Order: sequence, then C-alpha cells, then structure tokens
Amino acid sequence: MKKVLIVFGTRPEAIKMAPLVQAFKKNNFFETKVCVTAQHREMLDQVLDFFEISPDFDLDLMKPNQNLYNLTGEIINGMKDVLEEYNADYIFVHGDTTTTMAVSIASFYFGAKICHVEAGLRTFNLLAPFPEEMNRQVTSRITNYHFAPTEQSKSNLLKENILENQILVTGNTVIDALFFALEKLKKINNEEINNLQRIIQKDKDIVLVTGHRRENHGKGFINICNALKEISKDKNVQIIYPVHLNPNVQEPVNNILSNIENISLISPLPYEAFLWLMNKSKIIITDSGGIQEEAPSLGKPVLVLRETTERPEAVEAGTVVLVGTNVDKIVEEVNQLLNNNDKYKKMSLLHNPYGDGKASKRIVKFLLNK
Ligand code: UD1
Ligand code: UDP
Repeated sequence: MKKVLIVFGTRPEAIKMAPLVQAFKKNNFFETKVCVTAQHREMLDQVLDFFEISPDFDLDLMKPNQNLYNLTGEIINGMKDVLEEYNADYIFVHGDTTTTMAVSIASFYFGAKICHVEAGLRTFNLLAPFPEEMNRQVTSRITNYHFAPTEQSKSNLLKENILENQILVTGNTVIDALFFALEKLKKINNEEINNLQRIIQKDKDIVLVTGHRRENHGKGFINICNALKEISKDKNVQIIYPVHLNPNVQEPVNNILSNIENISLISPLPYEAFLWLMNKSKIIITDSGGIQEEAPSLGKPVLVLRETTERPEAVEAGTVVLVGTNVDKIVEEVNQLLNNNDKYKKMSLLHNPYGDGKASKRIVKFLLNK
C-alpha cells in the first residue's frame, strides 16, 4: 500500500488541504497521515476542528512574531524525524507559505516524491508577494507532480520547462472546501454565526475586510486603515474586520480603527462563520489569496489591496479589482460600488473560475494511476 503524507501549517493551507485529506482517507489504496507544522496555531486549529482532522504529527512550531529565518530552519529540522518515522512515498504540500517551501526541501533531502497542490501561480516578481513568489518557484523546481488549479497556472509551469505529463489541471481545492462547508452549514447550529447575527446591523451594507500581506506591513496597513476610517463616515455602511493575529497587523489596525462608529474589529473567524459573513456582505476588501478565489463563487465583488496578483482569472472576468493601498483609490472604488448599480451588478456576477468542487477527487485518481 502506498503511503501518503499531507503536510500544512497555516489557515489557508489547512482549508485547501482538508478536502484532500478527506478524499485520501476514503480511499483504501493509500495509507494517509497528516502532519501540521503549526506555523499558525489558533487559526490553524479553528480549521482542524471544523473539518474534524486530528493530525498524526504536530511540530507545534509557532512563536509570537516569528521570523522567516527561524521558521524555515525549524520546519526543515522538525520534518526530518517525521519523514524518517513514516517513510511516505508521496508528500503533499500546498501553495506558497514557508511551510510549503521548507517541507518541500526536507522531502527532497529525504527522497520522497513531492506533490504540489495549487501549483503554477506566478506574478514573476520575487518581491510581491514576498516571500510567497519565491516559495512557489523553489517548490516547483523540486516537485514531482504539479496540481495546477487553472489552465493559466499550467501554462506558467510549461514556460518553466516542466514536463506536461507531470502536470494535472484540477481546479482549486478551495472550491471543494467551500461546497463541503456550505453543505455542512445547512445542518449545524453554529454559535459563532449566532454571535455574528448580534453584531451585524441589518439595515446597513456590510463591507468585509481582511489583510495580512507582508509587503503591506507598515505604510500599507496605515493607508488601508485610513481608507477604512474614511469609508466608515457613510452611515449606511458597517465595516466588519476580523483582524489577523500577526502583531504587525494587530498593532496598526487596533491603533487606528478601535472605537470608531460603523467599524467592528473582531477576532479571526472560524472558516464556516467567515463564509456565512462573506455571504451577508455587499463588498469584500482584502489582500487574501483564498478570499479572491472564494468570492466569485459567492457572487461578491472584491477589491484587492495589492498591486499584482497571481490569480488573474477573476480580474479578467471583472469581479476582482486591484486597488493597491492608495487611500483615495480604495475609497473611490468603494463609493462607486455602493452608488453605481450597473457597476455593482457586473462585479457581483456569480461564477467559478477557480474550480468545480472536484479537484481533490482528480488528484487522488491521478495518483491511483501512477
Ligand atoms: C502566513 C504566510 C502567508 C499566508 C498567511 C495566511 C509565510 C511567510 N506567510 O503569513 O503566506 O498567506 O500565513 O494567513 O509563510 N499568529 C498567531 N496565531 C495564529 C497565526 C499567527 O498568533 O494562529 C501570529 C504569531 O505572532 C506569528 C505571526 O502571527 O508569529 C506571523 O505568522 P506567520 O505564519 O509567520 O505569518 P502570516 O502573516 O500569518
Ligand atoms: N478565513 C477564515 N476566517 C477569517 C478570515 C479568513 O476562515 O477570519 C478564511 C477564508 O475563507 C479563506 C482563508 O481563510 O479560505 C484565507 O486565509 P488568509 O487570508 O489568512 O490567507 P491567504 O489565502 O491570503 O494565503
């Protein structure tokens, strides 16, 4: 029986790997174990709880305000024992985090086959997103099987001379997770959602905000907060902002946006409650990768707080607009969406450029034939 090890460390990787864990665990041709680096802790555990995943290995690495040097070294070191103990044939990594890159390097040293989920996204600018673009490119160099979410991501890999028979276009597993969660939500009574019902003001348009990108730390976040302060002057708007736990985000957001009318700063939400809130929102403002992918499937317009994106599909379809971190630009785009019905309708088109909910099944099937 072939052995599979699925490794992840942060909230978005957990959300996007959970459907793959479920798909592999259902299949009797593989023995499947899960390892978390715990690059994130609380935000990772929220996802593990919802998807009912108990990791077989937990490196428990997160430290307050951790830096890239220590994190990278500790992941590579920590993985050595796990790899030697379990001796997997295939190691799955996801996306573009430090966990992705460092686990890939450790797996390369160990000699197992590396399978990269959400492969081939590129900006071709190593500084944006930083360090994620580097993480993706390094991982691609040593990956054996590349699971690309879209044709565009496949074509990026082909340009880097990766062989076509090592690439499979699968759709993004984030849509598998989304469909699973929306189904599960119909059946459960969720305490967090009940809390949100008490926070939201039903007569107002909800503007949902998230942000965490390293290249926005400092000046970028100050600008974003000033723009939100300006937008909150509109009495018909309620801004709800689940604030990422990174201290470089907490500090400017709490300093600039605490105790402002029409702005609710809340803790990071469990995935299912966040989806519920996305559905209730009129506009989403974010620098998140995953949210750019989920929002078109929920028919929500997204303003992206970045200058570039490795996810061009929804930008081309017109439901996502890059606004960067310029105060005037952010305020202007929000005002247009709130006041121009035609523009709003065009941007809230329901479509699924990132997947059909069957990505995980395709990945398992691909490996069954190897
Ligand atoms: C990381 C990833 C980024 C990904 C993002 C998703 C890297 C370099 N960055 O950024 O690619 O898009 O996660 O959210 O891989 N913290 C907590 N509890 C948590 C999580 C974070 O307290 O559950 C705090 C800690 O102080 C931690 C800090 O946030 O040291 C930074 O975490 P880190 O994973 O290094 O960076 P993120 O900004 O979360
Ligand atoms: N998300 C969540 N709770 C929140 C904010 C976001 O569960 O309070 C989910 C969101 O639905 C998406 C993912 O977290 O699936 C995005 O994570 P993040 O923005 O931290 O990382 P990125 O996608 O940018 O790597």
